[in-house]
Amino acid sequence: MTIERTLSIIKPNAVKKQLIGEIVTRINQAKLNIVALKMLRLTKEQAEGFYAEHQGKSFFDKLVNFMISGPIVVQVLEGDNAIKRYRELMGPTDLSKATAGTLRADFADSMTENAVHGSDSLTSAEKEIAYFFVDSEIVG
Ligand code: TYD
Ligand code: MG
Repeated sequence: MTIERTLSIIKPNAVKKQLIGEIVTRINQAKLNIVALKMLRLTKEQAEGFYAEHQGKSFFDKLVNFMISGPIVVQVLEGDNAIKRYRELMGPTDLSKATAGTLRADFADSMTENAVHGSDSLTSAEKEIAYFFVDSEIVG
């Protein structure tokens, strides 16, 4: 067993479509424990900072504008192999490759408005969790 933590974001399009409950249910069904959760609205600076690795790419402005278009839900998920297992639950970035039953296949509206985020490695998980939560907000 490798217990990991990963950062999940329910993005603005999914919040607008009232999918918070459905996504939380699927996370729990996948045996990922929610150990921190909050709703917030990103500033432009926060969105740019969160996606700093993509600065300069063709889709960056569109991505940032989407991420600040409405409230989001950020969560810390904990469980065995949580980083990889949550990425599997989400499905791939490219919608055309997503299998039915994954969060993105079922809830994405486009490549950019793809409903959910999940950390892609241990290093990014640690960095992304610290971007939104202090230790005392995580109930492990
Ligand atoms: P990326 O980190 O590559 O994907 P993932 O979210 O699966 O880790 O990209 C970050 C986000 O940027 C992605 O969720 C949606 C958006 N994006 C686009 O809008 N167009 C693109 O071509 C790519 C690669 C990403
Ligand atoms: Mg990524």
